[in-house]
Amino acid sequence: MKHLIDKLEQTGALSREEWTALIRGRTPELAEYLFERARTVRHKYYGHDVYIRGLIEFTNYCKNDCYYCGIRKSNRSARRYRLDNEAVLDCCHKGYGLGFRTFVLQGGEDGRYTDEIMADIVQSIRQHFPDCAITLSLGERSRESYQLLFDAGADRYLLRHETFDAAHYRRLHPQSLSAAHRQQCLWDLKEIGYQTGTGFMVGSPFQTPENLASDMLFIKELDPQMVGIGPFIPHHETPFAEYAAGTLELTLFMLGLLRLMLPKVLLPATTALGTIAPDGREKGILAGANVVMPNLSPVEVRGDYLLYDNKICTGDEAAECRKCLERRMESIGYQIAVSRGDSLNTAALSRSLSAAVAPE
Ligand code: SAM
Ligand code: FES
Repeated sequence: MKHLIDKLEQTGALSREEWTALIRGRTPELAEYLFERARTVRHKYYGHDVYIRGLIEFTNYCKNDCYYCGIRKSNRSARRYRLDNEAVLDCCHKGYGLGFRTFVLQGGEDGRYTDEIMADIVQSIRQHFPDCAITLSLGERSRESYQLLFDAGADRYLLRHETFDAAHYRRLHPQSLSAAHRQQCLWDLKEIGYQTGTGFMVGSPFQTPENLASDMLFIKELDPQMVGIGPFIPHHETPFAEYAAGTLELTLFMLGLLRLMLPKVLLPATTALGTIAPDGREKGILAGANVVMPNLSPVEVRGDYLLYDNKICTGDEAAECRKCLERRMESIGYQIAVSRGDSLNTAALSRSLSAAVAPE
């Protein structure tokens, strides 16, 4: 199988059959070889820098009912909250002082945040923090809405495609949602000029190596600036409460493959990875990841944005998380960078990079 890893490194592409064979046939030795190659590529482009993104989970209301997600609308025991413009700005101020130059606004699909309200929030962050990148992760919206928020000053958008395969997608979501629509949103975002991020859960119920092969082919075609992957972790109040979590082993393997397929991609070692293993994020970095996304949400609401059980860092102040991650990264020979941390994959980009001006 080593020859497939060599081929991937040399050409950045594999056929569907090769992806499936590689994922199905992986071994611990092969994984070590892959990680070593992935680190070499990562060091070539990004050195030993790890970029940080301040995650602001601004609403846990959601109109959707994804079978895996703890904030799905049918979860009546979730304590719901919303942050207003002022509270979001407050998180950004704290984050800025801690060295964050990217803010990620993530939330459930909450109708209360109309285009007007959302644009207002984006504009005020843009005004107060001209040298920072604004990333949105608000789920599926209309193309007009994406355009409006881009015009208001957002630079990046994260929307995991979750799984490319339509039949697999159907088993994870209710009828009202479709793989095709989600993918169309990603093409729209890219066309508008966002630095776009996609991704998928590893080990979601019913997932096969063939499904993962389809995910890799789709990501190759989309050629995004960011790819967020993390293990599926069950939440006790969802239909998937009894399903097994995705494994550390497979998540790391997929991270390594993504780094070789898209050498310049921004690849987070996610909170979910840190949740299934105490050193999951460190291992993620050593498999090729180059981003971590500590939480900037106010401590009062942290424990309410629970997509899955046993989520880490729900009681920690942003400053503690920041310090903790710094220590963790240093322990493996990496350092946190105070910068926007834009992707080097700028081929398809318009405004955002040239407009990134540092303050006097
Ligand atoms: N509403 C936005 C969206 O749809 O993209 C952003 C919030 S959504 C909760 C963010 C991501 O959380 C999803 O894309 C999904 O991959 C992940 N997620 C949800 N439930 C999860 C679970 N049980 N385990 C792991 N990841 C989960
Ligand atoms: Fe949050 Fe370690 S990253 S406490």
